[in-house]
Amino acid sequence: MDNEIITILLNRNNIDKNDLEYIIKPIYSHKEFQRRLTKEFMHHSDITLGEHILEDTIMTYKKCKKRKDVNIELAIKISMLHDLYTVHWQNNKENNKDKFFNKHGFTHPLEAVINSITWYPELFKDKHDSEIIIDGIIHHMYPLPVRVFDPTSNSMELNNYELVKDIDKELIDMIVKSTNRGRVGNISIARSKYKEGRIMSSCDKKVSIKQIKNVSSAKSLITGNNNSIKK
Ligand SMILES: [Fe+2]
Ligand SMILES: [Fe+2]
Repeated sequence: MDNEIITILLNRNNIDKNDLEYIIKPIYSHKEFQRRLTKEFMHHSDITLGEHILEDTIMTYKKCKKRKDVNIELAIKISMLHDLYTVHWQNNKENNKDKFFNKHGFTHPLEAVINSITWYPELFKDKHDSEIIIDGIIHHMYPLPVRVFDPTSNSMELNNYELVKDIDKELIDMIVKSTNRGRVGNISIARSKYKEGRIMSSCDKKVSIKQIKNVSSAKSLITGNNNSIKK
C-alpha cells in the first residue's frame, strides 16, 4: 500500500502498516473506495470521504488495541464501510429527498450497507460476522436515527435501491431486523448492539467534530447545502 494518503496517515499515527494492511487493503483497493478519495466525494468542508473513513479507521484501531474484549478486524471493517454511500451529498441537487427522514443523514447508513454487501461479498460470507458488521454500519450515526429499511419498495428514496434485489435474503433480513430495533414509526433510534459498532460510532463522532470546521458544514448535516465548499 504505497498510496500517499494512507501512508501519511499511518506514519502520522505511528502505526506499523503491517498491522492494518491485511484488513484494509482489500477494501481500500476497490475502485469505489478509490473514487471516494477524490474531490468527487467531499465529506465535510475540505476533506474527502475516503480521508474521513481512513481517519476514523485509525482512531477505531487505536481504541480497540487498548481492549482485550473486542474483535479488531470486525471493528475496522465496520469503519472502512460505514460511509460508503452512493452519491456525494453536499450541494447535490440530484440527492434531494421528498421526505424529511429520507434525507442523507438518516438514510446513508442503509445505502452504505447495500453498497458494501454488493462490492465486498467476501466480507459477508460468515453469518455471525455479517450481523455485527451490518448492525455497526446501520447504527453508526446514533444518537441520530436511521430510517427503517423496507426491502419491498423504495419508500426510503435510496440512490441504490436497484441493488437490493440481488442481495441474499438472509442478509436482507438482517438489515430489516437491525433497523427494527429501537423502532419509532419509520425510524430507529438504537446504539449498535455490538461493542465493535459502538466503538466505531464514538470514533466517528470525534473525527467528524474535528473535521466540521464551520457553521455551514454543521448545518449541511441536515440541509445538504454547504456554502463553505468552493464550487
Ligand atoms: Fe455517516
Ligand atoms: Fe463517518
